[in-house]
Amino acid sequence: MIKFTCVDKMYPDGNKTLKNINLKIDKGEFVFLVGRSGAGKSTLLKLITREERASKGSVSVLGNDITNIKVNKLHTYRRNIGIVFQDFKLLKDKTVYENVELAMRVIGENPKDIKTRVMEVLQKVGIYHKCNKYPDELSGGECQRVGIARAIVNKPSVIIADECTGNLDIENSRKIVDLLESINEEGVTIVMATHDMEILKQYNKRIVAIDAGKIIKDTKRDQYEVIV
Ligand SMILES: Nc1ncnc2c1ncn2[C@@H]1O[C@H](COP(=O)(O)OP(=O)(O)O)[C@@H](O)[C@H]1O
Ligand SMILES: [Mg+2]
Repeated sequence: MIKFTCVDKMYPDGNKTLKNINLKIDKGEFVFLVGRSGAGKSTLLKLITREERASKGSVSVLGNDITNIKVNKLHTYRRNIGIVFQDFKLLKDKTVYENVELAMRVIGENPKDIKTRVMEVLQKVGIYHKCNKYPDELSGGECQRVGIARAIVNKPSVIIADECTGNLDIENSRKIVDLLESINEEGVTIVMATHDMEILKQYNKRIVAIDAGKIIKDTKRDQYEVIV
């Protein structure tokens, strides 16, 4: 599903941000990507969303090598991926409904399908009753529910969540991870970057730890190594 093979990432300033990343994430997995600030978590996620390109090695997602994907194919590729941001990135002058609806409009979905689907996802994330509110009228936890609704509305195969609980207290963080967990149970692969140790302790998921651009621990691989 997601495969990094000998990946290095160097930004134009010459610093190697990721070093020899080898990582395989199967369909339907839920993976926490952990590491301190500056470790390279966001960079690794940006290689999956293809906001950044690997400097060396290859990244393949859903069976496609995206390392050298053509610019005109990027939009189609990205439809498979839902992104959830730390700071929600909601449009302030649009309602909850409109924020989610827009994600379907931009890909040219049929207006009738849009209404049904948007209502369905707003219900799923538990924010349906606030569909006519504006982001400023919502709590952080509620804003992130909208962020998740927007990420899933086009039925992606993968969700990339970069510190999506970073602006929330522990109780709301837990509710957001619970929600991601329920989406994962429907078969969506989730990769979530976090440095919240409380969250890591409370959920028994695969953990990929990264430090100074290198993978220093992978609980799945470690378990495998113990078994063999
Ligand atoms: N666009 C960029 N240009 C140059 N350096 C960058 C850029 N983005 C991130 N970096 C550097 O790469 C390193 C890893 O950053 P990042 O991937 O954001 O880490 P994390 O998400 O774990 O905090 C940091 O040293 C950061 O300064
Ligand atoms: Mg980051």
